Amino acid sequence: MNIKVEKSDPIKKKTKLVVYFVTEKSELPLGLPKLNQKLVDEIKKVVKETKAKLGAIAILHTHQLVEQERILIAGLGQKHKISHESLRITSGKIARKVSEIELEEYTIVVPNNLPVNSKSVINSIVEGARLSLYSFDRFKKEKKKIPNLTIISTNEKASELVSKANLASEGVIYARSLSNLPPNECNPVKLGEFAKSLSVKNRLKCTILSKSELKQKGFGGITAVGQGSKNEPKLIILEYNGKKDSKPIILVGKAVTFDTGGISLKPAEKMDEMKFDKCGGCTVLGIMKAVSELKLPVNLVGIIPSVENMPGGESYRPGDIIKLHDGKTAEILNTDAEGRLILYDALSYGIKTYKPKEIIDFATLTGACIVALGANVAGLVSNNKKIVEKITKSSQNTGEQVWQLPINDDYMDMIKSDYAEIRNTGPGRVAGTITAAAFLANAVGNTPWAHFDIAGTAWVQAGSKEKSYNPKGATGFGVRLMLDYLSSP
Ligand code: BES
Ligand code: MN
Ligand code: ZN
Repeated sequence: MNIKVEKSDPIKKKTKLVVYFVTEKSELPLGLPKLNQKLVDEIKKVVKETKAKLGAIAILHTHQLVEQERILIAGLGQKHKISHESLRITSGKIARKVSEIELEEYTIVVPNNLPVNSKSVINSIVEGARLSLYSFDRFKKEKKKIPNLTIISTNEKASELVSKANLASEGVIYARSLSNLPPNECNPVKLGEFAKSLSVKNRLKCTILSKSELKQKGFGGITAVGQGSKNEPKLIILEYNGKKDSKPIILVGKAVTFDTGGISLKPAEKMDEMKFDKCGGCTVLGIMKAVSELKLPVNLVGIIPSVENMPGGESYRPGDIIKLHDGKTAEILNTDAEGRLILYDALSYGIKTYKPKEIIDFATLTGACIVALGANVAGLVSNNKKIVEKITKSSQNTGEQVWQLPINDDYMDMIKSDYAEIRNTGPGRVAGTITAAAFLANAVGNTPWAHFDIAGTAWVQAGSKEKSYNPKGATGFGVRLMLDYLSSP
């Protein structure tokens, strides 16, 4: 999708379709130019009929009365309730409609007097359009037609805002495209190759540790989980330097390219969805891509432990005791609790190697998170108030919802082991998301840390709220949130 910005008078714009927004209780759309009375009457009628409800869309043909072949009236609901999120969803609905009727281009007139700042209006419109038109069609012959968009705005910085929103959206789309790949097309080796080619394009430093290097350097969690698959495990590290002489922020992402559960095999139902167990890692790759293209002034390290969790003669077993990267021993009680083992090694390695300012991880870690919060809110566990506050703010800006869960010594006690220092599951099912985080907390110690459990939000699944800009498959959850986070002081 190509998006361009114009400052022109909308009435002079030759276009297949022009969009005007309308809010409840107003007769006419915002910023509607002077039109032929017949058209104005038609528009009034449509506004009355749809009541300008949020998400309502109506198209009328102009029969050559003006240069614009069609007018699309888009309802925004009550004016005081307009938010970044409602604009993003509305823009997504419009884009889908335009694509459905197969127009090659359309125009949006951005109103000036909305109760959100005009910067975020443009951002939401671009994100909504781009993200809603994404579809995972690599393996289909027939591809959807993607229209181009002209944005008419009086904002001086409109072009710059559009290009920023474009880069952010491309980060999300990159994360989605990798996440959606089937497990036969994306194993740890392939994921490493994707990361490598990203690093070449975007001039990132890329290091990939092989199975033998991981063994030799003591990554006992990653090698244990990876040993059941003939697709060998990898640790992918990307470094971006946008700010001289400052401690980096580390992002860690779980990339289990397929999670069968291993010897503690999962039931068959919905096991196909476990290709999405690499979403955390793909989110980190999406962030690295966008941050380097936006040239954000930060130092960032992305660390992605990647394995395939398979049952077999070589697999690790319940009962095994392994040694993690920092030397701590862990008793395996369930081979399906594999994510925390690979994340532990990555967190420990990151902290030891880079002495980061803070470390933030993303993982489709627990089914318990979906039980607790549903499929529209990510779990957040942290040892640092300031990070949580900042994440909460960014989350409100981007519409990617999070909810903090507690952690304290009582939870830490729940993963103590009889035979090793810690064990990889808690007692029974209770507080599953927190006991998983407690396992990770052992690796981070006092380093400021936040953990996102994105099991429910990483892809559109049972219980996901339908949103125009989240089509079927992976959502890229976390990419926009972190870009907002990393752009704020
Ligand atoms: N990848 C899964 C978590 C998951 C399950 C995410 C379903 C999204 C949807 C993770 O590796 C896992 O299997 N966790 C176990 C932990 C348990 C064995 C302690 C779980 O949640 O059941
Ligand atoms: Mn698992
Ligand atoms: Zn998993």
